Amino acid sequence: MCGIIGYIGAEDAVDILIEGLQRLEYRGYDSAGVAVCHQGELALRREVGKLNNLIKRLAKEPLSGQMGIGHTRWATHGRPTEFNAHPHTDNANELVVVHNGIIENYLNLKTRLQAEGYHFVSETDTEVIAHLIKSHFKGDLKAAVLATIAELEGAYAICVMHAAEPNYLVAAKKNSPLLLGTGQDANFIASDVPAILRHTRDIIYLEDEQLAVVSQHQIEVFDLQGQPQDYEVSHIDWNMVAAEKMGFDHFMLKEIHEQPTAFGQTLAGRVSEGEQKLYLDELNLSPEAVKDIRRICIVACGTAYYAGLVGKYLLEDGARIPVEVDLASEFRYRRPILDRHTLVIAISQSGETADTLAAIQEAKAQGAKTLGIINVKGSAITRQVDGVLYIHAGPEISVASTKAFMAMLGALQLLRLYLAHHCAQLNNTELVAAIRELRTVPRLIEETLQKIEPQIQEISTQLLRYHHCLYLGRGVNFPIALEGALKLKEVSYIHAEGYAAGELKHGPIALVDPLMPIIALATASDTYEKLFSNLEEVKARDGKIIAVATEGNESIAKVAEEVIYVPAVPEWLSPMINVLPMQLLAYYVALRRGFDVDQPRNLAKSVTVE
Ligand code: F6R
Repeated sequence: MCGIIGYIGAEDAVDILIEGLQRLEYRGYDSAGVAVCHQGELALRREVGKLNNLIKRLAKEPLSGQMGIGHTRWATHGRPTEFNAHPHTDNANELVVVHNGIIENYLNLKTRLQAEGYHFVSETDTEVIAHLIKSHFKGDLKAAVLATIAELEGAYAICVMHAAEPNYLVAAKKNSPLLLGTGQDANFIASDVPAILRHTRDIIYLEDEQLAVVSQHQIEVFDLQGQPQDYEVSHIDWNMVAAEKMGFDHFMLKEIHEQPTAFGQTLAGRVSEGEQKLYLDELNLSPEAVKDIRRICIVACGTAYYAGLVGKYLLEDGARIPVEVDLASEFRYRRPILDRHTLVIAISQSGETADTLAAIQEAKAQGAKTLGIINVKGSAITRQVDGVLYIHAGPEISVASTKAFMAMLGALQLLRLYLAHHCAQLNNTELVAAIRELRTVPRLIEETLQKIEPQIQEISTQLLRYHHCLYLGRGVNFPIALEGALKLKEVSYIHAEGYAAGELKHGPIALVDPLMPIIALATASDTYEKLFSNLEEVKARDGKIIAVATEGNESIAKVAEEVIYVPAVPEWLSPMINVLPMQLLAYYVALRRGFDVDQPRNLAKSVTVE
């Protein structure tokens, strides 16, 4: 939520800042702004709405300078107006600050600062940071920022520039992501890697409660007492091409089509054909530690939560260990009962989701074992957990998650096999057979996408006239029904609900009429016959059914107006195939309704605030 960029170097800052903001726009797009320092003078431009508005303004009123900061906003405190847009300045326009996070004690600080004579022009929490830095500034920006952050409660990633200190930027973070990049004759500050990937792949992940002084040729990192800290430079192994659209109209469609690769990357190096072994040392769970697990709790939000629900079916069925799945935003508030025999698994694409991070902190505080299933390397959650199973999906730019979901399922499949094997639920021969089946998934995803896409394009036109949709599934495909409904809601703004099909007659069947299309996940499964009866009940009430069914199932056409056929796979692999029509349908409906697919209204990619 909110994207930050900072640059200091030999080139003009503005183009670099704008290009960085373009890559960060998925984090928020309510307003954007940049500030530069030129010959000891600060200048800034801010505009409401998407970054393009700022670009147009800069074309009319250009800026130049070799040091600057930029911000793209997802509004928390204060509406998306120019005054609320970042960067924020002190009253004398001597310093500017960009911020991602929420300052929880900003009202107290604001009241105090107002009493001291500081004049506020915005409704944001961020503006207090600018005035606080000003109040502490005695000629040393680093000291002023250290004194300021000592007064802040909540989450922040900030980047600060002062006209009187034109040779360096100051950055600091706590509970919001921020990284530094070391370039050729230049250094960078950013919320996320893609923002600076064109310039450098050498990254320093700032830790919480660290401050960095970034000049053109040097980066120094300090703790809150101002003591120098050692840091590591990580080399990013994916490049800009991975973060580009590569001929697709939208990142969402590109990422849907990247799923065979994403799933393959999750498996890569961890399974090998013919061997009765999984290479999963990064779990940090020895076979003895596995035997000690009495319960698993999965915590996650949104799409990652639905991956967690699939995980419940997979892990309980495979390893016979009880699994609970919690919305991370609820977890710590329900006073969960955890102990050292509980494994708490956080699932997160960004690794920065505030609620998921807080849930893991709660688990650690109660002495549970912790594991992260995470995409973004070095992100906040990865630094908290005992083990990390990276999903290796590559950068996911579209706000609506698709390939990360697929890769999360891949990671959960690996975990299922690992736990089942060490809990003596899967013998060597069964493990080899399961690995062989798992390795067919990337090809199956690819073939399915190719086959169903034209049909989904056609079906999407039929859905345009509806205002509501019901998604039905059972068993391991119930979470896929939930994910299908979420995808449709978030990109096409059509109201949709996912239900376990057996629940239909306990309430939602009252909604069924010719204006309520039903999307049913009716592939071969142990509960197929029961689901078929549920569909008969819908049909009897004139419901329009679009079914996803296994190739060769002709009888489904008796109840369904449209049948999307997918290849026959064992039930435990079916979520990875069945989610494909859900994703494509949401994409094409949104496209035909003319919406901004990659940046749906009101959303942001990483939710780093509660
Ligand atoms: C939906 C979506 C969100 C995220 C959720 C968790 O398409 O992307 O629901 O899944 O905000 O984000 P991460 O996985 O980064 O923790």
